Amino acid sequence: MTIQVLDKKFQPYITAQAIHEQIVKLAGQINNDYAGKKPLFIAILNGSFMFASDLFKELTIEAEICFIKLASYKGTKSTGNVITSIGLDEPLKNRHVIIVEDIVDTGKTLYEFLPQLVNQQPSSLKIAALLHKPDALVHPLTIDYLGFNVPNKFLLGYGLDYDGLGRNLKEIYQLVEE
Ligand code: IMP
Ligand code: MG
Repeated sequence: MTIQVLDKKFQPYITAQAIHEQIVKLAGQINNDYAGKKPLFIAILNGSFMFASDLFKELTIEAEICFIKLASYKGTKSTGNVITSIGLDEPLKNRHVIIVEDIVDTGKTLYEFLPQLVNQQPSSLKIAALLHKPDALVHPLTIDYLGFNVPNKFLLGYGLDYDGLGRNLKEIYQLVEE
């Protein structure tokens, strides 16, 4: 069913069931790859809160999680400026770090932010993202644990917002272009 949020219409795109199944798979890979390594997950707020929480619940290994806030979006367009509003207070030296993102779009956010993490000399640094828009990618990035590749269209729900709204939706919706 099509839904309306503010001035825009969105149609169902990825079901809650498909999201769940994909997260179980990703968690399975992480459980294998990080057994005995006690990885530190760094989830990027706001968008990733739901994905981070559902992914973290599926882990069976010892793991830690912390949250930071970076933002580059206003409305449905990337502003191109990465703003850090909540800093990172965990020491990363000699830690196995996994960044958790809701969606990698232009890649700008992570491209600007990753050097700050690399500076702290983690033992390893990987990226987990639920969604990726390969056609929008400007900065080359390798996503180590990816849920879904999606077309370059604005998405909503499951943590993703349109001007602050829609994060609570259990499914992922796609903008209906008129
Ligand atoms: P990037 O820096 O262009 O890769 O954008 C990353 C951030 O922009 C993501 O973490 C999201 O918070 C936001 N974003 C990108 N695409 C969408 C979308 O389709 N819907 C909602 N937010 C998005
Ligand atoms: Mg985000």
